[in-house]
Amino acid sequence: MLIRVPAVFTKEQVKQIRAGLDEAEWVDGKVTAGHQSALTKRNSQIPEGNPVAQQVGDVILKALGVNPLFRSAALPLKVFPPLFNRYAGGQNFGTHVDNSIRTHAASGQRIRTDLSCTLFFSEPEEYDGGELIVEDTYGEHSVKFAAGDLVLYPSTSLHRVTEVTRGERVSSFFWLQSMIRQDAQRTLLFDLDQSIQSLAVSNGPADATVMKLTGIYHNLLRQWAEM
Ligand code: NI
Repeated sequence: MLIRVPAVFTKEQVKQIRAGLDEAEWVDGKVTAGHQSALTKRNSQIPEGNPVAQQVGDVILKALGVNPLFRSAALPLKVFPPLFNRYAGGQNFGTHVDNSIRTHAASGQRIRTDLSCTLFFSEPEEYDGGELIVEDTYGEHSVKFAAGDLVLYPSTSLHRVTEVTRGERVSSFFWLQSMIRQDAQRTLLFDLDQSIQSLAVSNGPADATVMKLTGIYHNLLRQWAEM
């Protein structure tokens, strides 16, 4: 399941964040790549532990922590501190799969990567190319969202970023371990939750069917969740 979470940040917030990121130190992106993906990765990154990265990372995690769509889709257990990358001047990232386990250098915290996230800090019209292409059983999905939007996709998928031939593509990327390991189960819970939400709008939150379905949602979550 590939989900768009629109407007995690307003345009004004994006502008402020971008100003901070543009001033930060950028290094070769191979630093966080695994052995295989280092061969195909061509971009820049802000080093892990950089103060700007940490500060903006905290702002991102705080915004996502209160974002109902993100929480419903991801059911996050542990989120890896956000990283930042930039593609320009023909840079790209060839087809790869993300490492299954990531260790945070500073804290030593390990997470299993169930979901990958990209949060866009450039408007699509600011650059040419730079599409995130995600492969799943239904074929390829091309993602190029507005600045402030986030995409969430299973870390099990092969994906790539196409060459940026004009302008700059700045984004944050990170992984999370979900309380629900299996994408199929997480998708069911998401669809059920979204259906309950719309039923609650038409029937009212105290409606007996809404109550019953809410109970089913929580009982499924209780059966499947890992903590
Ligand atoms: Ni990746």
